[in-house]
Amino acid sequence: MKRPLVAGNWKMNLNRIQAITLAAQVAQQAVHWPTVHVALCPPAVYLDVVGQVLRNSPVALGGQNAHWETAGAFTGELSPTMLVDVGCVFVILGHSERRQHFGETDEMVNRKVKAALESGLRPIVCLGETLQQREEGQTQEVIRAQFAGSLADLSLEEIRQVVLAYEPVWAIGTGKVATPQQAEEVHALLRELLRNKYNEATAQAVTIQYGGSVKPENAAELLSQPNVDGALVGGASLKAQDFLRIVAAAHAVLEEE
Ligand code: PGA
Repeated sequence: MKRPLVAGNWKMNLNRIQAITLAAQVAQQAVHWPTVHVALCPPAVYLDVVGQVLRNSPVALGGQNAHWETAGAFTGELSPTMLVDVGCVFVILGHSERRQHFGETDEMVNRKVKAALESGLRPIVCLGETLQQREEGQTQEVIRAQFAGSLADLSLEEIRQVVLAYEPVWAIGTGKVATPQQAEEVHALLRELLRNKYNEATAQAVTIQYGGSVKPENAAELLSQPNVDGALVGGASLKAQDFLRIVAAAHAVLEEE
């Protein structure tokens, strides 16, 4: 595995004090596992204060969404340059909750990915099938379509800045994790799609995270899969000890290789 990326997606959780406390705990202890790249994605309203807590720590800051324009009359939206301004390195884009509840399409995600890259952010682009799609045998087709649409027209330099996150919708927040084999199958497909569109070196350089009910108990097995380069963690990232145990698991897997 290349240097793994373990990112916490806090979603719409925590208050200001809880956000500061959790970030401080993670920042303080992440130094024990320097082999792992760690990032936290708090709610937008806490980005600034969490960014201050993470300053001078090895933990990176990420947003959970951004618009495709850099400024203008878009009430309630945040631009990628604003995220950069408060210290973000990453931004999650195309999360299934945004696709499902806010009508984000591959085309919109693609515009956001391009704008984020232009602003100097590294997008974490989420892809994944629903339970119905999996049961109907459409997983590969869905992944191929999301890959083609969300990542359309990116140069070789740009795709290298992108992190992919395979997040089967049926595994998100359900406690129903994909088996390591199910995860590896899709990760290998994503690697192949990268290889076919770009080249072998680029395919190997791109980080592909798994997300969906990652917990301290199942992290090592998932991260041991050849094409799983990290984890995007929701629920388990809200408790410092759980999240740090996932970071520790990523470190241990890397050490074993
Ligand atoms: P979960 O969420 O770990 O709570 O399943 C993962 C995600 O949505 O990124």
